[in-house]
Amino acid sequence: WGKLGHATVASVAQQYLTPNTVKQVQAILGDKSTTYMGNIASWADSFRYEEGNAWSSGLHFVNGHDAPPPESCHLILPEDCPPEGCVVSAIGNYTERVQNKELAAEQRTQALKFIIHFLGDIAQPLHTEAFGEGANNVTVFFDGYKTNLHAAWDTSIPNTMLGISPPTSAANITNADFLGWANNLAAKINQGSYRRDVRRWLRNHRLPANRKGAERAAAAWAQDGNEEVCHYVMKIPGNQLNGTEIGAGAGGDYYKGAAEVVERSIIKGGIRLAGWLNLIFDKRTGFE
Ligand code: ADE
Ligand code: ZN
Ligand code: ZN
Repeated sequence: WGKLGHATVASVAQQYLTPNTVKQVQAILGDKSTTYMGNIASWADSFRYEEGNAWSSGLHFVNGHDAPPPESCHLILPEDCPPEGCVVSAIGNYTERVQNKELAAEQRTQALKFIIHFLGDIAQPLHTEAFGEGANNVTVFFDGYKTNLHAAWDTSIPNTMLGISPPTSAANITNADFLGWANNLAAKINQGSYRRDVRRWLRNHRLPANRKGAERAAAAWAQDGNEEVCHYVMKIPGNQLNGTEIGAGAGGDYYKGAAEVVERSIIKGGIRLAGWLNLIFDKRTGFE
């Protein structure tokens, strides 16, 4: 996701943190503002482009190795996660590190910021897909703007859902944008529109959130993101989407379904992030 998607995942999660979790997360982040989660949700993306931090780039996704979608949507873990790491092993690693009181405060802060970011990434279907490097290499047009299918899902579709233009830009996202969207989504959740989904999304949330247990949960999250790629994102094969217009204008059939998948994926990321942080800091998901 771009800045909007990550900050919205984090802000949905913020609404479901237990009081105990809120206290500890605010202390570790050193931020008691109303946007303490959203403020740092994209930190890992700035970090990866700073000198010396290229090692962290591969931690934002996991690529399967089988046939391209929609023929097959299937991750084989741990084989699909290289020794240098992927989003699944990174979630295991940083879940362990944030709980390790022997680490320097700065290290635990970094671990928490990685967790908040990576539970967003793993809910973006194309962060669990190998084809065209997560469709970064699939050129598309979005309401006339030349982009790629990955960036369209990260940024153009979310921006368009909120009426933010241009669709391809992350530059003009305000706190009011992601807080407003997160409030709308929380209202839908609280009205029960996603009740059965919420139960399903938290199925792999277990104590203790140790490294192996965390990796097992993250592997299941990656698998269901990858299934979305076959069901919708690349139901039209990636090579056939290449060069097409997928924006909200011109018919907009692909866009309409995509917006539904994006909404569900952002909520899913937010609910899982809240449940995960509550397990880590309060030994319960908070959705009991
Ligand atoms: N680079 C290679 N594969 C990727 C993916 N699935 N998501 C994001 N970036 C990638
Ligand atoms: Zn992305
Ligand atoms: Zn990322």
